[in-house]
Amino acid sequence: MLTGKARLAGVIGWPVAHSRSPRLHGHWLARHGIDGAYVPLPVAPDDLARVLPALARAGFAGVNVTLPHKEAALRLADEATAYARTVGAANTLIFKDGRILADNTDCFGFLADLRAHGVDPAGQGALVLGAGGAARAVVAALRGAGAAVTVTNRTRARAEALAAELGAAVLDWAAVPDALPSTRLLVNTTSLGMAGQPPLEIDLAPLPDGATVADIVYVPLETPLLRQAAARGLCAIGGLGMLLHQAQPGFSAWFGVTPAVDAELARVVAADIPRR
Ligand code: ATR
Repeated sequence: MLTGKARLAGVIGWPVAHSRSPRLHGHWLARHGIDGAYVPLPVAPDDLARVLPALARAGFAGVNVTLPHKEAALRLADEATAYARTVGAANTLIFKDGRILADNTDCFGFLADLRAHGVDPAGQGALVLGAGGAARAVVAALRGAGAAVTVTNRTRARAEALAAELGAAVLDWAAVPDALPSTRLLVNTTSLGMAGQPPLEIDLAPLPDGATVADIVYVPLETPLLRQAAARGLCAIGGLGMLLHQAQPGFSAWFGVTPAVDAELARVVAADIPRR
């Protein structure tokens, strides 16, 4: 039940219908009995610059932003965290005293989920596959956490640009098998393995025992890469945990409660996501 004092937040995307954030935040609102709402906000790219200040003036506490608005949201913000500036994109906006503060909580979410699995990337050799927007967040997070990062991408020029900007080394896509023996953490940020896409064909046999394989894909929950990693006895981390953890800082800023990322939340958010 909402009162006249309800706190408001939401997610802006175009389209936004696929977003799992309303379900995620809705679960937390219900669990904590908060007088608040989190709503999907379909906003066309040309309208973003007018909508953001309007939402702030209408009393919203803030919003998440998803595709295709993440870069534009950062440009429209008055202030940004180091992660948002480094990645060049924002996914969480906080409206405060007439100003828009931008954060990129994908970095926090990725690291928080690694740590929830007992993985500390500090001082580790990490190999990141892919050089798109998702790779930028993962590389920024790993660099911030003190990992030695190498980036590889089908289109090498994109890996070079990303690596030069974020302080990583570059490896040729064809040389991945040679790099596996010295890789403690392998992260897939490409779309390979996603529902409707071909699988990522890498033989994980050369990875050292005790290595971790993380895939930021969460549809399906278990990509062929993760199944291969688990079958080899490696630590296999899917993308769902990053999605859940990235939501936490926004919720806490907007609604004043730091919610738990636990098995119940995972079950609620994953309810309609195929396992494989
Ligand atoms: P996002 O912003 O979500 O990361 P993106 O910018 O489209 O998305 O990046 C997709 C990533 O998946 C890229 O690294 C892409 O490689 P290219 O830069 O060479 O396009 C990678 N990718 C997509 N399909 C691929 C395939 N069939 N083989 C190898 N990499 C692929």
